[in-house]
Amino acid sequence: MKSKKVSESTTIMTQAVLPNDTNPLGNLFGGQLLSWMDLASSITAKRHSEGIAVTASVNNVSFNAPIPLASVVTLEANITRAFSTSMEIMVDVWVENKSGQEKRQVNNATYIFAAVDGNGKKRAIPEIIPETEIQKKRYNEAAFRKEMALIFAGKLSMKDAENFCNHFK
Ligand SMILES: CC(C)(COP(=O)(O)OP(=O)(O)OC[C@H]1O[C@@H](n2cnc3c(N)ncnc32)[C@H](O)[C@@H]1OP(=O)(O)O)[C@@H](O)C(=O)NCCC(=O)NCCS
Repeated sequence: MKSKKVSESTTIMTQAVLPNDTNPLGNLFGGQLLSWMDLASSITAKRHSEGIAVTASVNNVSFNAPIPLASVVTLEANITRAFSTSMEIMVDVWVENKSGQEKRQVNNATYIFAAVDGNGKKRAIPEIIPETEIQKKRYNEAAFRKEMALIFAGKLSMKDAENFCNHFK
């Protein structure tokens, strides 16, 4: 299977915050943002794996600033690392100022998707080629985050988590 660049599966999605998307304070409802992030990251997972990919875990969701009604929100989902049948996708979220000239980052989240076939059976996926400094950093740290996700899901014991243990040495 041919390795792929991160940029080959990048997904960029822009949304406007409408009244139905807000909480009682008039800011974007967190569940709506989660839905947009899940959608953007699932498209990246589908593009990278060239088939069906299902959400296996959602990790490290940070809501760092409120997003007011009528804001223009841009989400960018990039694969950070492909494992055997699963892949980590990171979503960064920015909000534009009123003139649309400046963007500030307000959120980010990490998702893990599992590649499956039409019968839900897992399937192998291509590796990735990290190119930029940020891509290399995210790639190197992804193995640690994957083990953290498996530990939290009760699918891996801490004593078997090689990257997790090395991280604290
Ligand atoms: C995710 C799912 C396919 C995993 O199936 P499984 O039988 O547990 O298979 P495995 O344990 O071999 O997991 C497959 C891959 O996913 C990874 N994975 C499974 N659960 C994970 C979790 N909670 N966190 C991180 N990675 C996980 C495994 O490590 C493995 O990765 P690898 O092959 O790259 O090393 C299965 O649990 C599932 O279908 N879940 C429901 C998905 C869903 O409906 N999502 C929401 C709607 S899209």
